[in-house]
Amino acid sequence: MILWVLLAVVGLGGVITGSPTVTAPPDAASHAHAETVEQPKNSKKPTAVAAVEEAIQVVMEIGELNPKHYPAQRAAKVVQHYLNTEHGSPYKVFGLHKVFSANAEDVPDSGRKYQLELSVQEVVQKQTIEKCLAQVLFPQGESHAPPQVQVSSCEDLLKINVSVQEETLYQQYKRNHSLLFAQNIPDSYGHVEPEHVPFWHLGAVASSFVMLSESTQDTLFNMAQVANVSQLASEDNLLKFEYDVLLHEMVSQDIFAWKMLVTWSPPEGVKVLKMEKRDYTVTNLKTTLL
Ligand SMILES: *[C@@H]1O[C@H](CO)[C@@H](O)[C@H](O)[C@H]1NC(C)=O
Ligand SMILES: *[C@@H]1O[C@H](CO)[C@@H](O)[C@H](O)[C@H]1NC(C)=O
Ligand SMILES: *[C@@H]1O[C@H](CO)[C@@H](O)[C@H](O)[C@H]1NC(C)=O
Repeated sequence: MILWVLLAVVGLGGVITGSPTVTAPPDAASHAHAETVEQPKNSKKPTAVAAVEEAIQVVMEIGELNPKHYPAQRAAKVVQHYLNTEHGSPYKVFGLHKVFSANAEDVPDSGRKYQLELSVQEVVQKQTIEKCLAQVLFPQGESHAPPQVQVSSCEDLLKINVSVQEETLYQQYKRNHSLLFAQNIPDSYGHVEPEHVPFWHLGAVASSFVMLSESTQDTLFNMAQVANVSQLASEDNLLKFEYDVLLHEMVSQDIFAWKMLVTWSPPEGVKVLKMEKRDYTVTNLKTTLL
């Protein structure tokens, strides 16, 4: 199972070439938690070695962090999802490009706070935003509250102007009397029909709302696939869609299915009105991804 989940993710990487949403996790994985990803689950390390590695891991999780290692990458991934929820559109999807520095501290009665210096890439126009400063707080406790993100500087991000493309897409699908319906974006060969590309990207942005609220210090989420997208009739000025998406969590290698109700218009941006986790079995994945 682990093998073909990886294959599916590599397949997606081939489509958005250079997409940091796909390239960052394997990079991160090859450092800190490589054994989790690459080894079969039943091959255990000798206990002493594992204990030492674990001790090193704990020491490194506070203070100045190696920006390439998992803790820094996981926190930075949350910033990516946050930027998508704030600024994403069918023509603007942010991916993590590089983490330059990361620092973690425990804030009493609050949680663990990461200070990050990173660059992001807008994957549709392929523009890299060189320097963003962000802070991510993972609240402590059992409540599983979503991480809180503040981005203090990332100005170049606002210069990406896709208003012409957005308006064209909006007019096309607002006027069209037949409603969009599509499945398996990308398909098992990694192919995406050109007219579905904006709805793949919209699915990725909408998925970031789910991934932001589901993220903890121990997760690293990517969208694997839009399984279904159907446009719904809409009475107002918004385009409305129901999405079924498959989200891949790198650390556990789990795949989760979520259903979302999504609206979009150029002035209002992307909103997720409902999100619901679905029961999901591995058998389904095999038929959708392979
Ligand atoms: C984006 O570009 C359009 C058309 O080129 C222009 O009308 C609009 O003012 C620009 N918006 C921003 C925020 O720069
Ligand atoms: C209307 O929507 C259908 C289905 O999504 C699509 O095949 C067709 O190209 C669209 N027509 C126009 C004029 O955009
Ligand atoms: C996609 O829609 C089909 C029905 O058309 C459904 O059987 C399938 O479970 C949906 N996929 C997901 C991941 O929800």
